[in-house]
Amino acid sequence: MRTHFLWLFALICCLGLYAQERQPTGSVVCVECHVDIGTFSRKGAHRNAMFLGEAGRGCEACHGNGSAHVESGEAADILGGDVLVEWPDEQKSKACLSCHQENIHGWLSSPHESDLSCWNCHGEMLHFHEPDEQKQAKCAECHKDVAMRIKLQYRHPISCEDCHDPHQENERGVDSTDRCLRCHSEYQGPFVYEHAALDDGCQVCHEPHGSHTPRLLKMTGNGLCLQCHTQSIFPSIGKKVHSTQLSGGAFCYDCHTDVHGSNTDPSLIRRLK
Ligand code: HEC
Ligand code: HEC
Ligand code: HEC
Ligand code: HEC
Ligand code: HEC
Ligand code: HEC
Ligand code: HEC
Ligand code: HEC
Ligand code: HEC
Ligand code: HEC
Repeated sequence: MRTHFLWLFALICCLGLYAQERQPTGSVVCVECHVDIGTFSRKGAHRNAMFLGEAGRGCEACHGNGSAHVESGEAADILGGDVLVEWPDEQKSKACLSCHQENIHGWLSSPHESDLSCWNCHGEMLHFHEPDEQKQAKCAECHKDVAMRIKLQYRHPISCEDCHDPHQENERGVDSTDRCLRCHSEYQGPFVYEHAALDDGCQVCHEPHGSHTPRLLKMTGNGLCLQCHTQSIFPSIGKKVHSTQLSGGAFCYDCHTDVHGSNTDPSLIRRLK
C-alpha cells in the first residue's frame, strides 16, 4: 500500500518537472538581474550576436535553457560555472562553434585542437570583458621553453601572433620562410646567386624566438656555417683552401657578407669595386 503512494508521488513529480521543462528565454532577460555581466564595455558584432541572436545561443549556449531559473532565481535551476569548467574541451569549443565556422582558420587540424578549447585563450569572450591584451603572456603560460627564449638578450620585437596563427592547421608544416619574408622582404630574392641554405628555412641559422647571439643567430662563430660546410679536407671548403682565411679567427660571414644571396658574386662576397 505504502509503495503505491510512493509511485504516485514520483509520477506527480515527473509530470511537474515535465510541465516546467526548461525553455530558452534569450539573453536580454538574463542581464536584467545579472547587471554586472550586462554592464560590459565591450561592443561589436560578437556581443550583438550573443544578445540579440536566436534564444538559446547566447548565455544559454553554455548555461542551458533559462526559463525555470528566470522564474525562480534559484542557482539549482541553471548550469553554474562550476559545472561548465568541467566540460570536456570539445564541448566548450562547441559553444563557440555553434556560431563560428567549425573549422575556423583550420582549427580542426591544429595541434591546439586536441588539448585546448577556445576558452583557454578567449576567456574574455565568455562574459564580454575587455579583450585580453595579454595574449602573449597567455601563450607563455603553456610554452615555457619559448617563454624563456623571448626574455634572452637578443629577442624579436614582435608578438606570437605575428608568426603563428594559433588556430592554424599543421603549424610546424607552414613554411617558416614565408612568415619571415612578410616583414623581411629584402631577402625574398630571386638572387642571381642564391644560397642553397635558405631552402631549409630561415631557422637553420636564426632562432626566431630569441637568442644569446646577436642577429638572433642560433650560435656564435663558424659553427653556424659548419653545420653544412664540413668536409674531410677541411679547411678546404669546396674548391677553396681556407687555411689563411681562417687562421686569424675570422668568421665566415665577415667575408661572405651576403649570406642571404647575392646579385654580383657567386661566393656571396660583397667586393669593393
Ligand atoms: C529574476 C532575476 C534573475 C534572472 C532573470 C536570471 N538570474 Fe541568474 N541568478 C539570479 C540569482 C538571484 C542568482 C543567485 C542564486 C543563488 O546564489 O542562490 C543567480 C545565479 C545564476 C548563476 C549561478 C548559478 C550557480 O550555480 O551558482 C548563473 C550561471 C546564472 N544565474 C545565469 C543566468 C542566466 C543564463 C540567465 C538568463 C537565462 C539568468 N541567470 C537570469 C537571478 C536571476
Ligand atoms: C561560452 C560559455 C558561456 C557563456 C556564453 C556565458 N557564460 Fe556565464 N559562465 C561561464 C563559465 C565558464 C563560468 C565560470 C567561470 C567564469 O566565471 O568565467 C560562468 C559564470 C557565470 C556566472 C557566475 C556564477 C557561477 O556559476 O560561477 C554567472 C552569473 C553567469 N556566468 C551568467 C552568464 C550570463 C548572464 C551570460 C550571458 C550574458 C553568460 N553567463 C554567458 C560560461 C559562459
Ligand atoms: C551567438 C553567436 C556567437 C557565439 C555563440 C559566439 N560568437 Fe564570437 N562572434 C560572433 C559574431 C557574429 C562575430 C563577428 C563576426 C565575426 O568575426 O565572425 C564574432 C566575433 C568574435 C571574435 C572577434 C571579434 C572580437 O570582438 O574580438 C572573437 C575572438 C570571438 N567571436 C570569439 C568567440 C568565442 C571564444 C566564443 C565562445 C566562447 C564565441 N565567439 C561564441 C558570434 C558568436
Ligand atoms: C591558443 C590560443 C587560442 C585558441 C585555443 C583559440 N584562439 Fe582564437 N585567437 C587567438 C589569438 C591570439 C587571436 C588573434 C588576436 C586577437 O584577435 O586578439 C585570435 C583571434 C580569433 C578571432 C578573431 C580574428 C579572426 O580572424 O577571425 C576569432 C573569431 C577567434 N579567434 C575564434 C576562436 C574560436 C571559435 C576558437 C575555438 C575553436 C579559438 N579562437 C581558439 C588565440 C586562440
Ligand atoms: C593552455 C595551454 C596552451 C596555450 C595557452 C597555448 N598553447 Fe600552443 N600548444 C599547446 C599544446 C598542448 C600544444 C600541442 C602539443 C605540443 O606539440 O607541444 C601546442 C602547440 C603549439 C604549437 C605547435 C608546436 C609544434 O610542436 O608543432 C605552436 C606553434 C603553438 N602551440 C603556439 C601557441 C601560441 C602562439 C599561443 C598563444 C596565442 C599558444 N600556443 C597558446 C598548449 C598551449
Ligand atoms: C619571428 C616569428 C616568430 C615569433 C614572433 C614567434 N615564433 Fe614560435 N616559431 C617560429 C618558427 C619559425 C618556429 C619553427 C622553429 C623550428 O622548426 O625550428 C616556431 C616554433 C614554435 C613552437 C614549436 C616548438 C619550438 O620551440 O620549436 C612553439 C611552441 C612556438 N613557436 C610558440 C611561440 C610563442 C608562444 C611565441 C610568442 C611568445 C612565438 N612562438 C613567437 C616563429 C616565431
Ligand atoms: C611582423 C614582422 C616580422 C616578422 C614576421 C619577422 N620579423 Fe624579424 N624583425 C622584425 C622587426 C621589427 C625587427 C627589428 C628590426 C630592427 O631592429 O631594425 C626584426 C629583426 C630581425 C632580425 C635582426 C635582429 C637583430 O638583432 O638585429 C633577424 C635576424 C630577424 N628579424 C629574423 C627573422 C626571422 C628568421 C623571421 C621568421 C622566423 C622573422 N624575422 C619574422 C619584424 C619581423
Ligand atoms: C645560412 C645562414 C642564414 C640563413 C639561412 C638566414 N640568415 Fe639571416 N643572417 C645570417 C647571418 C650570419 C647574419 C648576420 C650577419 C652579420 O652580422 O653580419 C644574418 C642577419 C640577418 C638579419 C639582420 C640583418 C641586419 O642587417 O641587421 C635579418 C633581418 C635576417 N638575417 C633575416 C633572415 C631571414 C628572413 C632569413 C630567411 C629568409 C634568413 N635571415 C636566413 C645567416 C642566415
Ligand atoms: C643548411 C646548410 C647550410 C648552411 C647552414 C650554410 N650553407 Fe652555405 N651552402 C649550402 C649549400 C647546399 C650550398 C651550395 C653548395 C654547392 O653548390 O656546392 C652553399 C653554398 C655556399 C656558398 C657559395 C659556394 C659556391 O657554390 O660558390 C658560400 C660562400 C656559402 N655557402 C657560405 C656559407 C656561410 C658563410 C654560411 C654561414 C653563415 C653558410 N654557408 C651556411 C648549405 C649551407
Ligand atoms: C677571410 C675571408 C674568408 C673567410 C673568413 C671565409 N671565406 Fe670562404 N671564401 C673566401 C674567398 C676569397 C673565397 C673564394 C672566392 C672566389 O674565389 O671567388 C671563398 C670561397 C668559399 C666557398 C666557395 C668554394 C668553392 O668551391 O667555390 C665556400 C662554400 C666558402 N668560402 C665557405 C666558407 C665558410 C663556411 C667559411 C667559415 C668556416 C668561410 N668560407 C670563411 C673568403 C673567406
